[in-house]
Amino acid sequence: MSEKKIIYLDNNATTRIYPEVLDAMMPFFKEKYANPSSMYSFAAGVHKDVEKARAQVADLINVDPIEICFVSCGSEADNFAIRGITEAYPNKKHIITTKVEHPAIIETFKSLERHGYKTTYLDVDGDGNVDIETLKNSISNETALVSVMYANNETGVIFPIEEIGKIVKKHGAVFHVDAVQAVGKLPIDLQKEDYIDMLTMSGHKIHAPKGIGVLFIRNGTKLRTVQTGGHQERGRRAGTENVPYIIALGKACEMAKAELSKFMEHTKLLRDTLQKKLVDNIDNTKVNGGNANRTANTLNISFKNIEGESILLLLDVYGICASTGSACSSGTLEPSPVLRAMGLPFEYAHSSTRFSFSLDNTMEEVDFTADAVIKIVKRLREISPYTE
Ligand SMILES: Cc1ncc(COP(=O)(O)O)c(C=O)c1O
Repeated sequence: MSEKKIIYLDNNATTRIYPEVLDAMMPFFKEKYANPSSMYSFAAGVHKDVEKARAQVADLINVDPIEICFVSCGSEADNFAIRGITEAYPNKKHIITTKVEHPAIIETFKSLERHGYKTTYLDVDGDGNVDIETLKNSISNETALVSVMYANNETGVIFPIEEIGKIVKKHGAVFHVDAVQAVGKLPIDLQKEDYIDMLTMSGHKIHAPKGIGVLFIRNGTKLRTVQTGGHQERGRRAGTENVPYIIALGKACEMAKAELSKFMEHTKLLRDTLQKKLVDNIDNTKVNGGNANRTANTLNISFKNIEGESILLLLDVYGICASTGSACSSGTLEPSPVLRAMGLPFEYAHSSTRFSFSLDNTMEEVDFTADAVIKIVKRLREISPYTE
């Protein structure tokens, strides 16, 4: 019996490891297993390969390789940035973020609140645009850090990083940007974007393995180490380097740079086609963040009066992988905090479905998915207790 074909439209959750990336990392499990800190030439070769990967990562975002600090994942990089800055500036007790950040940011802010920090969570409007006025009114010389995402994982909405960065710099605070959903999806040039002090990346969103991330730390940024121990990563992050994954990330960054224009063009065409087919053929839909500047690969769409979970279950029958903004917690379906912050009405918030594309996806998959979603929504509306 042949296996059901999978249509993978959940690339903001994770991506397939590219074969070239896997090929690059395999020798570091098999033959090149030395600890890069050891003193013999076998290790020196591995050390050199790690530095080559560091340069490949640096090249993608146009920075000096010594500003790249390898960590275990995007969540660790976010924790490191926030905790490292608050430790470095113990007298500044105010930190600012937005209401639509990833839990790696929100939960770290909550943890610092329990240690006496004053926090500000900026609102977003119905299109997902951030409230700049509140940033201007709340930031002061007491503010240690402002942490804002480059692009939102659920909606793809891109924040005005330059405008925010300039405000942050005017007040002498440190500016951290979680760019996990932006790196490899839009051009980032940190020589030009010199108002960004620290930036988070994650390997598994750009076809490298899960469990490798980066914190870019601009030269001169005062940051205390959080993971104490040995002197790896120039004393910034202790722990023997995860060499195979570092090599993989280097290769993935090299490929992401080479493919960036193709990625933006291809995924935008697929995303816009799916969006148009769904909006044209299904009543009462809402494209979340549709009026804002969005990453090319992300579509977040709601269908009034049905539940996202039911859509996903039925999509699964067709072999289609997508995700929903609502999560089942304590027996009730809670809409995502991101969509709640955008003020999405209850009857739309529960049905939000996210489709996120990569270069792997095809127009044939889009056509198949559009037909499937149209049938599924029709069927679910027929049996929905909420349908008027
Ligand atoms: C915006 C954002 N930040 C941080 C993370 C966490 O990255 P990781 O899975 O590597 O810990 C994610 C992962 O989904 C993300 O989308």
